[in-house]
Amino acid sequence: MATKTGEGFSSSFGAIMAAAGSAVGLGNIWRFPYICGKYGGGAFLIVYIVFVLFIGMVLMMGEFVIGRRSGEDPMKAYPALKPKRPGWKYVGLAGLMTCFLILAIYLVISGWTLNYFWESLTGRLAGIADSDFGEHFKQFASSAGRPLLCVAIFLALTALVIVGGVDKGIERVSKLLMPILVVLLIALCVRSLTLEGASAGLSYLFKPDFSKLTGEGVLAALGQALFSLSVGMGVMIVYGSYLPKDDNILKTSLWITVCDFAIAILSGVAIFPAVFACGQDPTGGPGLVYQVLPVVFNSMGTIGRIFSITFFLLLSLAALTSAISLLEALTQWFSGKRLGRTGSALTVSLLVIFLAAAASFSFGDGIWSGFKIAGMSLFDLLDKLTGTILPPVCALMTIIFFGWVMNKEDIIDELSNHGMVKIGYFKLFYHILARVVAPLALLIVLVAGIIGG
Ligand code: PHE
Repeated sequence: MATKTGEGFSSSFGAIMAAAGSAVGLGNIWRFPYICGKYGGGAFLIVYIVFVLFIGMVLMMGEFVIGRRSGEDPMKAYPALKPKRPGWKYVGLAGLMTCFLILAIYLVISGWTLNYFWESLTGRLAGIADSDFGEHFKQFASSAGRPLLCVAIFLALTALVIVGGVDKGIERVSKLLMPILVVLLIALCVRSLTLEGASAGLSYLFKPDFSKLTGEGVLAALGQALFSLSVGMGVMIVYGSYLPKDDNILKTSLWITVCDFAIAILSGVAIFPAVFACGQDPTGGPGLVYQVLPVVFNSMGTIGRIFSITFFLLLSLAALTSAISLLEALTQWFSGKRLGRTGSALTVSLLVIFLAAAASFSFGDGIWSGFKIAGMSLFDLLDKLTGTILPPVCALMTIIFFGWVMNKEDIIDELSNHGMVKIGYFKLFYHILARVVAPLALLIVLVAGIIGG
């Protein structure tokens, strides 16, 4: 059994589903399509793929190794592997703090998604005039009660799964939800692609336009690669500690990466052809999903209603399996503090809902929107910290530990399952990617990000 508490995933398939569930989330369906379109479609894709494979996946394997080797939560894992350097525990702690902040903002957006699912189901969205969707979203997201209620419901669902345990809760739910998600997404793609004028959407998404791929676009590609694969903040250390001992870390990481990438691409294919076919603005940015897509759905008549229900259900499920991994990381850490699984999950939930509520109230014209920190509302500050600053910082520290501090023999032993699996890729992976390419790329992005403001 992997962890000290004896908890773990029961099979490799279950582990892949759970970790892919963490990776596939709002980042793939809500964020990827609009930034891919914004920064030059195919041009962005090329850079993104390079970052995913050579930085994101390397980090994922590194986190799995750290987690499984130590069998500990992120804060204890580093010192467990390098007892002479106890200060590394702060990297684990920084990752967990980042998880906490991401979870708060994630809950707010997941709450919106749940609300839109409900409004599609009850027909409320279908009754809104096209020109009013912008106002509808603004009014809803800036109000106090309803978004908070949605956050609470979403968090309660997440916590319920966590209380169920690693294999009976997280693994079981992921094994059920991930295949449903793929089926729903493929159905949406088919419908979207068969609309008249769909091809314009495909060329927007895939045709490379290098003039749009700015320095900012390259930074966005790296940020997105880390966020989408859930790497850098320790979530994969946690899931790594639950990996079966005979699991092949390279294979598992490859599967997760491929799933995550495929779902991001499919989301673009589901969204853009429909947006173009209905003559809507593809550069809707973050509002695309809540302001532009409902117009698209409404213009499709009855089938649009089914489309809408399916889409928001899909988005809610994807968000749920990601929120589960964030809450689990924090719960595992708290459990180490003698609270037990249920007590820890409840404690973290109580703490995080305060921050989520504050973030929600500060959004748009919300009741706390006048309160600014460094010129930003709390929501915008959290968005910036968790989207562009903290994950690369934590990722850089993690990869430095993995490549330069941790014992090489431990890594070889863990990747090869004590010599049972061939690791011919090790030289390239360790000496080139983990020690040089990934840390340098992360450093450059961070410095460029800081200089660029
Ligand atoms: N990967 C998730 C997504 O794409 C978000 C996430 C980030 C989840 C970090 C866990 C940890 O939406």
